[in-house]
This record gives sequence, C-alpha cells and structure tokens, in this order.
Amino acid sequence: MRGQSRDFGPSGGAFERMWAELAPVGRAASTGGYRRFAWTRTDAELREWFTGEARARSLEVVGDRAGNLWAWTGDPDAAAAAGRPGLALGSHLDSVPDGGAFDGPLGVVSAFAALDLLREQGFRPPRPIGIGCFADEEGARFGIACAGSKLLTGVLDADRARALTDADGTTLAEAMAAAGAGPGDLGRDDEALRRIGTFLELHVEQGRGLVHAGAAVGVAESIWPHGRWRLDLRGRADHAGTTRLADRDDPMLALAAAVLAARSAAERHGAVATVGKLRVEPNGVNAIPSAVTAWLDARGPAEDDVRAVVADVGGAAGTGPVEESWTPPTTFDPALRDRLAAALARPDGTPAPVLPTGAGHDAGILAAAGIPTAMLFVRNPTGVSHSPAEHAEPDDCRAGVAALARAVQALL
Ligand code: GLV
Ligand code: MN
Ligand code: MN
Repeated sequence: MRGQSRDFGPSGGAFERMWAELAPVGRAASTGGYRRFAWTRTDAELREWFTGEARARSLEVVGDRAGNLWAWTGDPDAAAAAGRPGLALGSHLDSVPDGGAFDGPLGVVSAFAALDLLREQGFRPPRPIGIGCFADEEGARFGIACAGSKLLTGVLDADRARALTDADGTTLAEAMAAAGAGPGDLGRDDEALRRIGTFLELHVEQGRGLVHAGAAVGVAESIWPHGRWRLDLRGRADHAGTTRLADRDDPMLALAAAVLAARSAAERHGAVATVGKLRVEPNGVNAIPSAVTAWLDARGPAEDDVRAVVADVGGAAGTGPVEESWTPPTTFDPALRDRLAAALARPDGTPAPVLPTGAGHDAGILAAAGIPTAMLFVRNPTGVSHSPAEHAEPDDCRAGVAALARAVQALL
C-alpha cells in the first residue's frame, strides 16, 4: 500500500504484508492497473493466495457450486444445523480491465485482518465466522457482473453461465475446466447458503459521500437498480476511400447517435449511462465497419428512469438493446443497517453515515436472496474507482479493519 505506515495497528503487520503480496498480482506495467479476470492464471494465483491466508489462520476452505471460495472458523454446517448459522465477511479479488487495487481486495484483506484483530482481543465468536471470495464479481471476462453470487443464489442459470463466452470465444465452462474447476457442478448451492446467517461486505467507496460526510467509514443504505445491454449494429463493409458517402451503410453512425443519446437521456432522467466497451468488425482504419457491437451500462435511483434511458438509446440506435443482465434496486436490511450505524458511531455519538451507491456488489445479490446483509464503505478521497487511480488512505483502511471487527462483535 503506497504511503502505508509501518504501524498499522495490532494486526497492522498482517494487513501490510497481505497488501504487499497482492500488489504485483495481475498488475499491468503499462498502466499500473489490474487485469484480474475470472478463471485465468492470475485468478488461480489469487485463489492460492486466499487459500494460503485462510490455512495460515487454521480456517477450513471450501468451494461452493458457483466457483466461490469460503474460509470458515469452527464447523459452519453444525452451527447451521443447530439454527445458529455463521457470519460471513468478504468480497472479491477480480478486477475490471485496468482496475484499481482496492475494489474487492480491500474487503478480503480487511476481513482477514479483522479476524486477526478479534483473535488478538481474545474475542470468542459464538457463531462461526466465514470469509468469502466471490468469483467474477466484475464480469470483466464473461459479461455478467456478480456471476459468483448470482450462480450461488440461483439468479443466474447454470446452463446460461456455462455457455457465456469471452472475447476469444472461450466459454465459461471451458475456462473453468482449464482452471481445474468443475463447470458441471455449477448451480445454486443450498448447502453453502445455509451456512451464511448474515453477510457483511466491506468495500472501498466508489464516490465521495464519505468525504462530504467527513467520516472514514460508512454503512450502505441501498444499491441503485442497474443493468447491462448489448447493441448489435449491422452495416456493410466497404472501402473507406472509394465508397461515396451516400452509398454507405456505416453502423458507426448509429453507434455515435446511441452514445450521444445515452448521455442526454441520462441527464433528462436523472440516471447515468455509459458505453464503455465496443467490438468493431473488421476493425480496420480504411474499412467501413460491417458490424459494431456496443455495451451499455445504465443505472439510476429509479428503475423507470433507467428503463427510459435504455429505450431512448434503442430509439437512437435504431435497434432494440438486448438485456444481458439486470439487478433490481436493493435496500439493505434496515434493522441491520441501523445497528451497524449505531455500533460505528462517531466520537460525538452521531451514527456512522448511511449512503446509497450506484455500484453493484455481491452483497446486493445475497440481500436480494433474503440473507440478512450489510455493507461498510471506506472513504475514497477522490471517489475515483474502476481506475488505477482508485485509492484509500492507510489511516482509513485501518479504520475500516477496526470497524469491521466492531461490526462482527455487534452482530454476533
Ligand atoms: C461493479 O463494480 C459494478 O458496479 O459494475
Ligand atoms: Mn467494481
Ligand atoms: Mn467491488
């Protein structure tokens, strides 16, 4: 961690060591960003790291039918059978293309550090504590965000998941098999779900709400409804120098109209919309494209407004956007949220800030599946995320670990 003081607190050494170990994994020298994509060699390295950290703490690591990893204290099955299912922490280790260091890993590293802190304090958990590492949260390779939690809860159909392809045409099933995982087992995992009585994800904030609130740590209130759509724009390949403008059928023009419509519709409807990924065929400077595929990400506080943006983009593009994923609005358990805000009250007694977010999280998928779930955010001084510039100050990361440990005590 850049600028990290050596004194990270009681468990500081471990946090610093874990952060330093993860720092080079999947880092692109050209940009300084992370390229940690599901079921790649980098992903395998991250999974090995997770397993090593768990084993070093005498935690048993179990995979689930969705490709996620879980490290548990005690016997989570016996506890679940006795009606006292565990408290699971955790987040993800994968990234968007050229992502930052904090989105995901901060939650996993903080979970291990919080467990260390609780143990150092002599805390004896009355229920098992788990640490989860979700597979493919960003959907950077196969297109579906939160694929691990959606498979785990049955929101993503296993056959559909197996058939998803990456940019090279490799299916998820092929990628999992190549990584030594069993794609045939994919599917909702009731056994794994039964172990999770409560889920708590710590995450770097991806905005400046905590900067404005003047707090290092806050509690999530809700997640905006959001989704991904594909625009398949077809044209006719031809020569860039000899084809008269009037004779062209250029799908890039429809793309340009769609991108501008996304921006203006988002402004009109109080939402946000982004076209961040394109595939152009044949992708030659001197060839009119035969096809352009574009992906639209749209989100906002209200579902109707998001849907209206997507409809406007489709109108401008002249083709209906194909929905690839949709996540309805999520409101985190208000009682849990308020308990955490009170447990993490500031020195003057005011509860920790409670904030909505436009970012998607595995915690939102578990909450929608009926698991009592909460999230903590750690201040991000610039608010920048999904970028190599993503950052959180060491002091705030330290506050996050302490808050997570306090939250565990408050919830168990
Ligand atoms: C995940 O970070 C998302 O919000 O897309
Ligand atoms: Mn992310
Ligand atoms: Mn994340």
